[in-house]
Amino acid sequence: MRIAILGGTGNIGRGFALRWGQKHDIIIGSRNAEKAEAFAGEYKEILEDRGYEAHITGTDNKTATENAEIVVIAIRYNRLQSLIDLITPVIDEQIFISVVVPMEKNLCYISPNAKPRTVPISSDQFNTDYFCFTMPEAGSAAQEIEKMLPAGTELVSAFHTVPAKKLANLELELNYDIGVCGSSEYSKKLVFELVEDISDMRPLDTGPLEASAMLESLTPLIINISARNNMKDVSIKFI
Ligand SMILES: NC(=O)c1ccc[n+]([C@@H]2O[C@H](COP(=O)([O-])OP(=O)(O)OC[C@H]3O[C@@H](n4cnc5c(N)ncnc54)[C@H](OP(=O)(O)O)[C@@H]3O)[C@@H](O)[C@H]2O)c1
Repeated sequence: MRIAILGGTGNIGRGFALRWGQKHDIIIGSRNAEKAEAFAGEYKEILEDRGYEAHITGTDNKTATENAEIVVIAIRYNRLQSLIDLITPVIDEQIFISVVVPMEKNLCYISPNAKPRTVPISSDQFNTDYFCFTMPEAGSAAQEIEKMLPAGTELVSAFHTVPAKKLANLELELNYDIGVCGSSEYSKKLVFELVEDISDMRPLDTGPLEASAMLESLTPLIINISARNNMKDVSIKFI
């Protein structure tokens, strides 16, 4: 598959490129084509040193989208609109994957109608920063993205609970469960295969795109658990 990773120069983009670059053609997308080329070169070198014949290139986000079959949106929630506006003219049957989690540090509200509350932070070493899921108007980041994309664009929501550092560490087998939701069975199946391409990951069907809020809200939960219980970069497994 030809997979574009928009924001592929970032934390989670790096891990996807290194994992999927072992098998698929990867196009790193960035606001800056030269930056994307430099990152693509670095990822390619890492994989070639490990014996893979990697096909990884870098370009601007719009060209990356135009040339891909699958497009992963790997940028932060509050930066989505300008990116989607930029790529909309070249959207044509690509399948999109959102890994986006809307969350804030020390500012809690679970619904867009609730009054945001600031979480007090003490100097106690166990009471560090606290992350909260900040539910967008549409219910989840994926549903917001669906509204921004041209009608009929296929969108799947997945990978929210994968810690970037571990994804990029190719020494690790990641026996995580990955919740996948979306409203087209065809594109969900394709994303299941991409999950299975990452050593030891198991895809789990979590329902239609409307289920995405439940998945997205797991991320601040596991970050808080990691920070407060001295556990590094945890993920989830259903047993
Ligand atoms: N980090 C994790 O462990 C993790 C795990 C699961 C899901 N996620 C989700 O993945 C997404 C990316 O997280 P991240 O930690 O990888 O983020 P990040 O490293 O902070 O940023 C990713 C990329 O976004 C691009 N970017 C920055 N501002 C932008 C803008 N205004 N418009 C377009 N692109 C912009 C940058 O690329 P250029 O400068 O090259 O354009 C940057 O490299 C987030 O939505 C997050 O919730 C993260």
